[in-house]
Amino acid sequence: MMRRTRSGPSIREFLNYYVLVLLAEQPHTKRELIQEIRDRSADNRVYRSTGALWVASADMDKVLANLRQRGLIECDSASGKWQISWHGRRARSKIERQNQSESGGKERAAEKMLSLLTSVPSNAYVLDAGTGEGFLAFRLAEYGFQVLGIDSGSFDYSKDSIQQARQQARTQGGNVEFRQADIRRLAEPDNSFDYIVSSQAIHCMEDQLECLKAIYKLLQPGGRFLCVDFLVGLRGFLAHGWHCFLAISREEWVELLLENGFYNVRMYEIDDYLLTEAQKPA
Ligand SMILES: C[S@@+](CC[C@H](N)C(=O)[O-])C[C@H]1O[C@@H](n2cnc3c(N)ncnc32)[C@H](O)[C@@H]1O
Repeated sequence: MMRRTRSGPSIREFLNYYVLVLLAEQPHTKRELIQEIRDRSADNRVYRSTGALWVASADMDKVLANLRQRGLIECDSASGKWQISWHGRRARSKIERQNQSESGGKERAAEKMLSLLTSVPSNAYVLDAGTGEGFLAFRLAEYGFQVLGIDSGSFDYSKDSIQQARQQARTQGGNVEFRQADIRRLAEPDNSFDYIVSSQAIHCMEDQLECLKAIYKLLQPGGRFLCVDFLVGLRGFLAHGWHCFLAISREEWVELLLENGFYNVRMYEIDDYLLTEAQKPA
């Protein structure tokens, strides 16, 4: 998949802060700011080849104009470099204080997800995509659902996850099965699942679009997809660093889901996490 240039309000929300961070270190031109952000987020490529953050030039223009208008940065006309003002330094500290995330956002997001499933028949068949060691799968099994947890084991930290989950399933019981599989090649017929859920996994999937298409096919008509992942933007960045930009932003979710056949899209921000819900037409 080609790299994507990222844009939109979620990215601008982050840029409003991070431009101040970079200019507090030293003056930069607009081009240097974009390059620096790309370089600093380059480790994201460990998770996805397209993972570095490529900021759209038009978004950077908007942010620079906004910060200048507020007196937080100024441009040296001789060098074309932007520099931070005294007000800018104060504004940066204020943003950091206001956006400190409490821990436990992931737990709260999972609880919210489960609360959206309370009216679901308890024999529903649920797929947990990128289950890891079964963070969601075990919770869903406790609710009485029939659960399949799958994980590709793509990373060093996750290569043994399915074994760990199986071991726990043996002691804990519940209607839960674990399989090592990639969501794009899961050996299950189309329209198999009433629900497909995912926690903190879509961000590290190699081809997110293909994964989303696979999810759509595997869902039965009328079925729902519920996904918890990092919040893209300032709050996500302050809690998870560059990794938050591996996730899909609020505005990107709307576009992607609607373009790929889903409807009834709803989103909930829970601290530094985003819970996204969408339905396949009946
Ligand atoms: C950060 S872990 C999250 C695990 C668990 N859901 C949780 O919330 O703790 C993301 C998992 O997604 C898995 N994964 C990545 N790409 C995948 C794919 N295409 N299909 C299935 N699993 C995948 C990884 O192996 C990894 O275990």
